[in-house]
Amino acid sequence: MAQRLDGKALAHKIQSQLAADITQEREHRERPPGLAVVMVGDNPASAAYVRNKERACERMGIASFGAHLPADTSQASVAELIDQLNQDERVDGILIQLPLPEHLDAVALLNQIDPAKDADGLHPENMGRLMRGESGLRSCTPAGVMAVLKEYNIEPAGKTAVVLGRSILVGKPMALMLLEANATVTIAHSRTQNLPELCRQADILVAAVGRPGIIGADWVKPGAAIIDVGINRIQDAESGKFRLVGDVDFASVEPIAGAITPVPGGIGPMTVTMLLHNTVLSYRKRFNG
Ligand SMILES: NC(=O)c1ccc[n+]([C@@H]2O[C@H](COP(=O)([O-])OP(=O)(O)OC[C@H]3O[C@@H](n4cnc5c(N)ncnc54)[C@H](OP(=O)(O)O)[C@@H]3O)[C@@H](O)[C@H]2O)c1
Repeated sequence: MAQRLDGKALAHKIQSQLAADITQEREHRERPPGLAVVMVGDNPASAAYVRNKERACERMGIASFGAHLPADTSQASVAELIDQLNQDERVDGILIQLPLPEHLDAVALLNQIDPAKDADGLHPENMGRLMRGESGLRSCTPAGVMAVLKEYNIEPAGKTAVVLGRSILVGKPMALMLLEANATVTIAHSRTQNLPELCRQADILVAAVGRPGIIGADWVKPGAAIIDVGINRIQDAESGKFRLVGDVDFASVEPIAGAITPVPGGIGPMTVTMLLHNTVLSYRKRFNG
């Protein structure tokens, strides 16, 4: 049976350490770290994520500057808010909760965030730094995956890694981080041919496609590390209740893999943790230069 990579436990450990660091740093700094979460509209899933992030901030001693705007807020108004947050000395991290309502240009708004406050690590400057192997704020979900690999001593150097998915949010930065850690990386997507065969070559397989259970046992090399980023909400045929599943068919893959992240309790909690981590990094940088 594969070793379960417990992202929830690791998230708890990192958050406890961050909270202790913040308490200590507060002794010689006049203000706590601050995170502003900008949400537009009332998408229930987004509202739940935002609540989750704000509660985590509260537990850790990070000040929250949440702005929840009505769904019909104009581009100019959101842009003005981001300008204010860029200028606000109490704010170290700014996050725009995606997806935004369709009338808003999300890319323009993301690009407007001060790169030094880009808690999500999605600004082109931070993406460019990742591409160049320079230090900068790293996007949260792939950074969470790298932290899990490190915690469980899964060394990417010299390994074959396949990343399934090529989004800006997960797949592309994930591939670059694995490359930075000296893995040999292939990025696969919906046009890739012979996916099962390709995936079977992977020592480290990262699934970020959003297709429940697409990765079955015949896609997996025995002993491989399987990282399931996918979060899919599916309805149980019998009970009618909704539950979260990943992109990996956990029950069939667990007996073959060497290590595997569960869903929920794998990469999800690590994403929020990396957001808090980035906020604290920006805070330190703003004080220490
Ligand atoms: N754990 C977390 O904290 C976290 C954070 C972010 C996202 N997620 C989850 O991760 C998943 C991916 O998110 P995302 O934002 O990257 O999604 P996305 O923007 O929809 O990208 C999905 C990627 O998967 C590829 N793909 C789709 N169907 C495929 C198939 N049948 N075979 C091969 N490739 C396929 C797409 O290929 P093309 O480019 O060719 O269309 C695309 O590159 C979702 O389930 C999301 O909920 C989880």
